[in-house]
Amino acid sequence: MTETLLQLLRCPFCGTSLQLVANSALTQERGQITSGVLGCECCAFPIVAGIPVLIADDRTRQAMHTLEAGKHDEALAMLLGLGTIKDEKSWRLLSPDTETNLREALQLLSPNAEGSYFLHRFSDPTFVPAEALLRAVLQAETTGPLLDLCGGVGHLTRVLDTARPVRPGVQSTITVDLHFWKLWIATRFTLPGCTAICCSAEDPLPFASNLFPIVTLMDAFPYIWHKRLCASEMARVVRPDGLLALPHLHNALGNNVNSGDPLSPSAYRNLFAGQEPRLFSDKCLLDEVLEHQMVDLSNIKSPDQLGSEPSLTLIASQDPSHYRQLPIPDQLEVTGELQVNPLYKIDHRNGQSYLQLSFPSPDYEAEFGACRRYLPDTLTIDSDLRSPISPASLGTRYAELRRSRVLIDAPPRYT
Ligand SMILES: C[S@@+](CC[C@H](N)C(=O)[O-])C[C@H]1O[C@@H](n2cnc3c(N)ncnc32)[C@H](O)[C@@H]1O
Repeated sequence: MTETLLQLLRCPFCGTSLQLVANSALTQERGQITSGVLGCECCAFPIVAGIPVLIADDRTRQAMHTLEAGKHDEALAMLLGLGTIKDEKSWRLLSPDTETNLREALQLLSPNAEGSYFLHRFSDPTFVPAEALLRAVLQAETTGPLLDLCGGVGHLTRVLDTARPVRPGVQSTITVDLHFWKLWIATRFTLPGCTAICCSAEDPLPFASNLFPIVTLMDAFPYIWHKRLCASEMARVVRPDGLLALPHLHNALGNNVNSGDPLSPSAYRNLFAGQEPRLFSDKCLLDEVLEHQMVDLSNIKSPDQLGSEPSLTLIASQDPSHYRQLPIPDQLEVTGELQVNPLYKIDHRNGQSYLQLSFPSPDYEAEFGACRRYLPDTLTIDSDLRSPISPASLGTRYAELRRSRVLIDAPPRYT
C-alpha cells in the first residue's frame, strides 16, 4: 500500500483516520509500505505484505506483535494460516523470487472446492455475464478508484482494472475480503500490485464517504448477515452519481447450490431503495452475451418476472443513462498471458493439440456445467498450445478461441 491510500481509509469501528506508526515494524520499498502498524483513536492494525488488516481479533493482534518483534515472515505465515512455516513448500511460496504459480498457491492455501472454484473462475457461467456487464459499463470514462467488495482472489478486480480505457494510476482498483490469504493471492498473482484491504463487510466499510464511481459485490451478498448495514455502507462510499453492481445474487425463491442466506428479489431491491435499484435476470444476461454480444440494461425485471429464477443481478444508480443496451467490447487483446482454459486436458501430438473438457469434480459440473454452452467438449487445434501462445500462431481461429474462452487472457503465473 502507499501513503496516499491512508487518505481514503477510516477505522471501521471509530471512523477516525488511520496514521502510520513510526516503529520497528515499518518497512518501505520503492514508495510502497510493505509492513507496519496503523493507528486510529481506538485500535492498532498491522500491514502485512502490503495489505492493511483492519480486523480486531486475536490472530491479527498476534500478527502485529510478531511484526513488531521483527519476524515478518512469521507474521505473514500466521495470517496465511500456514502456522509456523516448517515445511519447504511454504517457504517456497513465501520467497519473493518464488516460481510458484496461482494454481500451486491455491493447492497449498485452499486444497478444496473453493480453491477449484477460484482456479476456474474466469470462464464460469456466472462470471461471464458479470464480466461482460462491467466491461460494457466501463467503456464510459470513470475517474477515481473502483472498489470490489468480497473480491475473493481478485478475478473481478482484474476485470475492473483492465477494462478501463484509461486507468487513473495507483489505487485504481481496490479489493476487499475477509480472508487475508485470498487478498495475498490477488495482490501476488491475479492482479499483481493491486491494492487490497482485509476487513469484514459485516462491519462499517473502512473508507471515507462518496469515494468510488463503481462499487461491485459479486456472488457474496447472501453470505453477509448484516445485509442492511452492508447495503447502506455501499451507498455511503459510492459517489452520488456512481453505480453499485451486485452480480449473481442467489434468489431465496429459487434453487441454488452454495447459496448462503439469500433474500427474495423484492427484499434485495428494498435494501437499496435510496439508490434507484433495478433487477436483471442472470439467465437473460448470459443469453444476451452469448447470442448478441451485448448487455441489455433496458431489460429490467420486476420481482414477479424473476419469480424463482435461481439468481439475479442488481444495479443501482441515480444516473438513468446506464439503463440501455450496451455493446460488449470484443476482448481480443492480451493483458497478461494467453493460456488454454484450465478446464481442458491437452494432448500434444505431431504439432497438433487435442483438447478435452474435463471438470474438476461432479459438484463443479453440477454448479457450472452451463459453460458447455460456449466450451466445446473436444477440439483439435493445428498448433502446439504449450506456452507461450501467440495470437499470430492461431491465425483466423484466434478470435473464436478467445470468444469461446477456450483460450483465456490469464495473469502471468496462473497455472
Ligand atoms: C463466492 S466468493 C466470490 C468471490 C468474488 N466476488 C468472485 O465473484 O470471484 C465469496 C467471497 O466473499 C467473501 N466474504 C464472505 N464474507 C465476507 C465478509 N464478511 N467480509 C468480506 N468478505 C467476505 C469470501 O471470503 C469470498 O471470497
